[in-house]
Amino acid sequence: MSKQRLYLTTPLYYVNDEPHIGHAYTTLLADVMARYHRLFGRDVHFLTGTDEHGQKVQDAAKKLGRSPQEHCDITAQRFVNVWDKLNVEYDDFIRTTEPRHEKVVVEILQQLYDEGEIYKEDYEGYYSVTEERFFTEKDLVDGKDPIGGRPVEKIKESNYFFRMSKHQQWLLEFYESHPDAVLPEFRMNEVKGFLQQPLGDLCISRPKSRLSWGIPIPWDEDYVTYVWFDALLNYYAATVSPPEGSSPAWPADYHLIGKDILTTHAVYWPTMLHAAGLEPPRHILAHGWWLSKDAEKMSKSRGNVVKPLDMADIYGPDLFRYVLMRDMVVGQDANFSEEMFVKRINSDLANDLGNLASRITKLIDKFFDGVVPEADALPEDELPQLAERTAHIVFQKVEGIQIHAAIEETLQFVRAANRIFTEGEPWKTVKQDREAAGRTLSTALEAVRIAAVLLQPVLPNKANELLERIGADADIQYSWDDTKWGTSLEGRKLTHGDAVFPRVEKPKPPKAGETKPAKKDDEQKTEDDYLSFDQFKQVDLRSAKVLHAEPVPKTDKLLRLEIEVGEEKRQLVAGVAQHYAPEEMIGRTIVIVANLQPAKIRGVESQGMLLAVRDGDSLNLLTPGDVKSGLRVS
Ligand code: ME8
Ligand code: MG
Repeated sequence: MSKQRLYLTTPLYYVNDEPHIGHAYTTLLADVMARYHRLFGRDVHFLTGTDEHGQKVQDAAKKLGRSPQEHCDITAQRFVNVWDKLNVEYDDFIRTTEPRHEKVVVEILQQLYDEGEIYKEDYEGYYSVTEERFFTEKDLVDGKDPIGGRPVEKIKESNYFFRMSKHQQWLLEFYESHPDAVLPEFRMNEVKGFLQQPLGDLCISRPKSRLSWGIPIPWDEDYVTYVWFDALLNYYAATVSPPEGSSPAWPADYHLIGKDILTTHAVYWPTMLHAAGLEPPRHILAHGWWLSKDAEKMSKSRGNVVKPLDMADIYGPDLFRYVLMRDMVVGQDANFSEEMFVKRINSDLANDLGNLASRITKLIDKFFDGVVPEADALPEDELPQLAERTAHIVFQKVEGIQIHAAIEETLQFVRAANRIFTEGEPWKTVKQDREAAGRTLSTALEAVRIAAVLLQPVLPNKANELLERIGADADIQYSWDDTKWGTSLEGRKLTHGDAVFPRVEKPKPPKAGETKPAKKDDEQKTEDDYLSFDQFKQVDLRSAKVLHAEPVPKTDKLLRLEIEVGEEKRQLVAGVAQHYAPEEMIGRTIVIVANLQPAKIRGVESQGMLLAVRDGDSLNLLTPGDVKSGLRVS
């Protein structure tokens, strides 16, 4: 019997960016799902990779004095390295500059052109380099791009267009009849809402005179392919020439993405496939965002920049995987902080799982010479039934992509085992009824074994360590049958080593005032008049972009601003209304104090403060120039 095949993908990340927690989350979600499905006995094909064409890459390479290809070779490697570090086992890594990808893009373009799905037209529009997208005049918000509020460039040129609008009705009907094609459900509603509006055609080319770093349009040497039209095709291209020994099925079962790229995946992509005569994806799963607010605070108090990905270095990749999977409800946003990281590890892994395992193994060492005693459970024992139920629910939760819930279910089982073990008091009963004590220890150990097998997809190394400790087979591909209750540990010898899940502690911040500024020979000033370097570093100054501005009612001094600080959105109240009209604020990059305690000003919550210089009657905003938002001012 052939195994059921399962093909799942991550976005191809922009090669320019340094890998961060967001990229890590999607890729880890894919890896954890892949490992669970392998445990279920499926033939999994897991694809990830990098998106390497477009204006941003061309510009960055030029700045660094590299050829675009050289630049991509260097930067793509950062993703390969970080996936290695995080124990990600993908089956294929595709780069959009590979010939196997470019070949398929060219073939499909030519096919669509020959079939009249692509036409040429004069076009006037507004281009955002940051988004790598065109907008129409009515899309713009106060003359800026509607997504990030960044400047756009008016462009008039001839371009090629894909007749996307022609497939709108089909797509709407497809979604009506496949309600789980976009997950979670509220994202499907968003997509359907979008499809109620007239859908335009998609501009799929860029003149070479403006952008040369792209796949050439096969019938017109003056143009290259628009980066999104190119990149989306990777998912299909990777099935045409997969690595040796693998045979991914089409269509993909799961395209995992963040909510930021829902439209390109749930609207552009299926219409492209439909036009090319290919089946649309089975499921597109859009997850939420990790918000970096707390992580930024953390860097402030430590006096050095701690990025969430650094947690993997400090605490190890398995624990990082565990917290990311356990603490984000798939589909929702979540906050990341080192505090919550440490708390989660200590409560679930150190206190519950680790502690149970170490109590059992210590007693087996003491009373049974480290050899697992006879393990036949009695019919009235609770644990075998609980184990069966747990495995069943874990299976269902993983099928429903509720990974956090699958983990929690397993931990509930561990907690139950802990309770039953404690109630059995084997350390006491061993004196009167050695057999009963042995059974209590063995059944609790069997529960630990099953929990370890069920957690292996999330904690590949740590689960192996634990399995080895309890005398089970480690470093093998477990099958679903191994989650069944049994007596396989009977007579096995325990192994010894450091605690698998020791308690962790957040490194202490340096004491305030440990470093002092050199004292000026200004006799008037005492030491207390100076700010220590550490104190200064506690002020978290950040670049921010104003997305929206409006007057605060009943005052002529205040504006309510919606700002973007990196991935995060905030609201801020600023006393600038007499100097700046709301329209003048929108789209500006400003500097804010990001870690000021939130305050209510005229009943409106303000999260932070902007910086400006007053000169007599005039007020001038401090601006760092045209930089990204969320950058630290130092
Ligand atoms: O959009 N929280 O690439 P990209 C959670 N090249 N996930 C996040 C996140 C956050 N704060 N930030 C980013 C592109 N992500 C295109 C894709 S696909 C053919 C082309 C994750 O490098 C999330 O998966 O901007 C999001 O969709 C992806 O990174 C965007 O990566
Ligand atoms: Mg992005």
